[in-house]
Amino acid sequence: MIAIGCDHAAVNLKQAVMQYLEERKIQYIQFGSSGEPCDYPDVAQQVAETVVSGKAEKGILLCGTGVGMSIAANKVKGIRAAVCNDCFSTRYTRKHNDANILCMGERVIGTGLALELVEIFLETEFEGGRHQRRVDKITKLEN
Ligand code: RB5
Repeated sequence: MIAIGCDHAAVNLKQAVMQYLEERKIQYIQFGSSGEPCDYPDVAQQVAETVVSGKAEKGILLCGTGVGMSIAANKVKGIRAAVCNDCFSTRYTRKHNDANILCMGERVIGTGLALELVEIFLETEFEGGRHQRRVDKITKLEN
């Protein structure tokens, strides 16, 4: 299960991502705007809590830049949200940071690239090992 959310600045990108997930028969639960103005921290909280609760294994948060969503989501304990605009960062935030939420900005990247980033984010495994120790240190910072 994937949790996905957007504010009013990323409605079109959310539609494209939902279509992508449907075509691949990946289940999702969605939150946020269908076009009406809303506040991105509210949506970030809903998606982040869905991930932390275990109801969804990963999340995708979309706003104008992806940045507001990431700042808000990272306030929730257990969330490692990464704003990504390129394939390399997306791949390595999974391999090294075990990121559990991908944030993207509809005003920043095109739909084609965004969908490729979704694919990388969902398919790339965390490497563990020395990276687990570092992720554990991030978790310690939360407490
Ligand atoms: C909304 O105008 C915009 O501020 C929001 O989508 C996001 O980009 C914030 O980080």
